[in-house]
Amino acid sequence: MFQSASRANVSRPTLRTVVALSMYLWLVLPGFAQRPLQTLLVGVDRRDQTTLNGDWHYLVDQSPGRALYTANGEVNDKSYAMNDHPHIVGSHNDEYDFSAAPTLKVPGDWNTQVPQLFNYEGVIWYQRDFEALPKAGTRTFLHVGAANYRSHVWVNQKRVCDHEGGYTPFDCEVTALLHPGTNFVVIAVDATRLADGIPSVGIDWFNYGGLTRDVSLVTVPRAFIDDYDVHLAHGPEFLPGNTELSGYVHVLDAPTGTAVTIAIPEAGVTATVKTDAEGNAPFNVKATNLTLWSPGTPKLYKVTLAAGEDKLTDDIGFRDIRVDGTRILLNGKAVFLQGANVHAEAPVRGGRVNSDQDVATIFGYLKEMNANFVRLAHYPHDERMEREADRQGIMIWSEIPNWQHISFDKSEVYAKDVAMLHEMIRRDRNKASVILWSVSNETPNNSTRTTFLTNLANEARTLDRTRLITSALNTTHIQGNSATLPDPFADALDVIGVNQYIGWYTGKPEDADSIQWALPQKPVIMSEFGAEAKFGNHGATNERWTEEQQVYVIQHQFVMFKNIPQLRGITPWILADFRSPTRNIPKLQDGYNRKGLISEDGKKKQAFTLFQKAYAEHSVGKPE
Ligand code: GCU
Repeated sequence: MFQSASRANVSRPTLRTVVALSMYLWLVLPGFAQRPLQTLLVGVDRRDQTTLNGDWHYLVDQSPGRALYTANGEVNDKSYAMNDHPHIVGSHNDEYDFSAAPTLKVPGDWNTQVPQLFNYEGVIWYQRDFEALPKAGTRTFLHVGAANYRSHVWVNQKRVCDHEGGYTPFDCEVTALLHPGTNFVVIAVDATRLADGIPSVGIDWFNYGGLTRDVSLVTVPRAFIDDYDVHLAHGPEFLPGNTELSGYVHVLDAPTGTAVTIAIPEAGVTATVKTDAEGNAPFNVKATNLTLWSPGTPKLYKVTLAAGEDKLTDDIGFRDIRVDGTRILLNGKAVFLQGANVHAEAPVRGGRVNSDQDVATIFGYLKEMNANFVRLAHYPHDERMEREADRQGIMIWSEIPNWQHISFDKSEVYAKDVAMLHEMIRRDRNKASVILWSVSNETPNNSTRTTFLTNLANEARTLDRTRLITSALNTTHIQGNSATLPDPFADALDVIGVNQYIGWYTGKPEDADSIQWALPQKPVIMSEFGAEAKFGNHGATNERWTEEQQVYVIQHQFVMFKNIPQLRGITPWILADFRSPTRNIPKLQDGYNRKGLISEDGKKKQAFTLFQKAYAEHSVGKPE
């Protein structure tokens, strides 16, 4: 069915905002010179890519990164980035030779690849050659799925981009630098934790460093689709049978009035719209039929977007998520979110998740425990997780790593947070499985933080009006049998996450039975609770670190949940034991946080079975 599409009131962050923010980032953040606007390509995994995964040479640049930083902390463009062989200059003796250096696998953290690098959190330089045959009229971007924590990229000795943030993708245009034949790329990755970083210096997970996700080259036409949003129209209330689709397609560097086609054959949609002066083409179209996405029917549609010479096809599900009083409504129906927290720790092999196999194992666990929900703690995960959740019908809480003590008093930290929020939302806004954007975890209840995070929550709302905004709060106040949440930041949230460890960090497990919660009249997700147990360690229910005590704590949590009328979801901390340098009780932790329901090598504890049964019976909480 051919329809002309009307202009929609779809909000897309204007390019002006993105440009202003990007310029601000480059001009303000120390060590960043002004760079051409870095765009972020949406749907990279649905485009033809030339993979740069594989063996990269590497050189360790021991702290403070003498080859990467000049004496005044600027990035040094004239050292290893030159990739000379072998190279000895001046008194500094920058002696190196990538071609003879050892190699690291990309994607992959360096910590689990080289024993001497296990605890290394400094600078590592990566280098590889690649063949190119640039085609006239096309543009090429270097795509990095994630690099932890700060990255600086050179191609053929020219610096192309810099990025801060260890868990979101970035794209660097390399068009002008490529020549036919052998080219080379050098990427310096600095895993140093920063007081004004996101996260900051104290974290309860392992700071895996390096090019931790896929790296590739993406070639697109001169004018191409760099951003799009195709979603079920989201009006003031859910309308059963609604088949209206809304969104925008953004075409970079196309003349005003460029025709853009949106085709969803299975939904009977073919629409053509035109770009405005900013390259934006909003649309509203009616599908002739639509099966809404849900855990029971994770229906995805082939959506083809075309503009000029560019064309790409994504797999998109359509659904409606909103709150109504204390209920969470999915497609107009109240739901209870029963799931688990997950860190991006590869089951059994350890290290950062970066493969289809890692993701399949994690989702195997979630399905086996009858979960319909997962909190991707505490940062955006590999995009494969959202793709798998879309396919398997698992709803997602996605979060930027404002974990505990962030420098909320610094405007440059706010700018970094906004950039990270944009990157997370831009990458995943077309993933039906993502229903919640979280802007923080366990931050101190003070006015500086509340203002900072309230602004950030509102920024998320302006970027995406179709999802719910949440955060995990641990600012509860428990006095005797009463628990309250005297935290004004809760006012800024659609859904409130509560982290508490009654029976493990505080009080006895039995105390939970009689706790009365006074919480705001909003949907609440118990976003963290649990206890530690070493797999195979057995004993009485009052013996800490045994599987039996872990079960006992959770059983009493379940009793407490029945006294929280607005409880609409639970995610125990955590699906699987994970590496954390702060967990140093020999024989019990040995560098692992043991609150997992599964051991780090894939062995299921008794608590796993407890959740599997409770979720099968839907006995933990009510959707309304
Ligand atoms: C906190 C925090 C987690 C941490 C957990 C724990 O709530 O959010 O990141 O691992 O508690 O102490 O085990």
